[in-house]
Amino acid sequence: MSRVAVYPGSFDPITCGHEDLVLRSLAFADRVIIAVAVNAAKQPLFTVEERIALIRQAVPNPAVEVQSFEGLLVDFARKVGASLLVRGLRAVSDFEYEFQMALMNRNLAPKLETVFLVPAFDLTYLSSSLVREVARYGGDVSKLVHPAVLKALKQKFGK
Ligand code: PNS
Repeated sequence: MSRVAVYPGSFDPITCGHEDLVLRSLAFADRVIIAVAVNAAKQPLFTVEERIALIRQAVPNPAVEVQSFEGLLVDFARKVGASLLVRGLRAVSDFEYEFQMALMNRNLAPKLETVFLVPAFDLTYLSSSLVREVARYGGDVSKLVHPAVLKALKQKFGK
């Protein structure tokens, strides 16, 4: 039986940190479904369709799928037959929110296991929100995102 992991998030936009975690997930999952939350960010920079297209370009791997989801993550995980939820833990500051979410998700779906992954050392302080902010003011994020994402950011901000 194949082991399916769901990696949920806003991915507004996908960064090298996310890409790193997807590849790490393939060490224990046969398929990884990147689940892009439709409602998570109130005013996202990229539409869901744009985020999905960028993820597909950044992670061209046959074992990786990209889908959007609305509503509860546990319902989406059940629908796609996932037994694992993957989340990244970058710093202590992530912990409380992630712990709360993991416990709530376990309460809702006891058999769905949350797995926390630690990103590559040099990507630990990377986040989509910092990437958006730096790119907005014309800073260089070329080492932090895939070239397709870099191009899309430049188009959005006209830089
Ligand atoms: O990248 P993010 O914004 O930190 O991702 C948060 C996300 C999308 C994983 C979380 O908000 C989520 O799971 N939303 C779906 C709604 C849901 O199931 N909420 C209860 C979680 S305990």
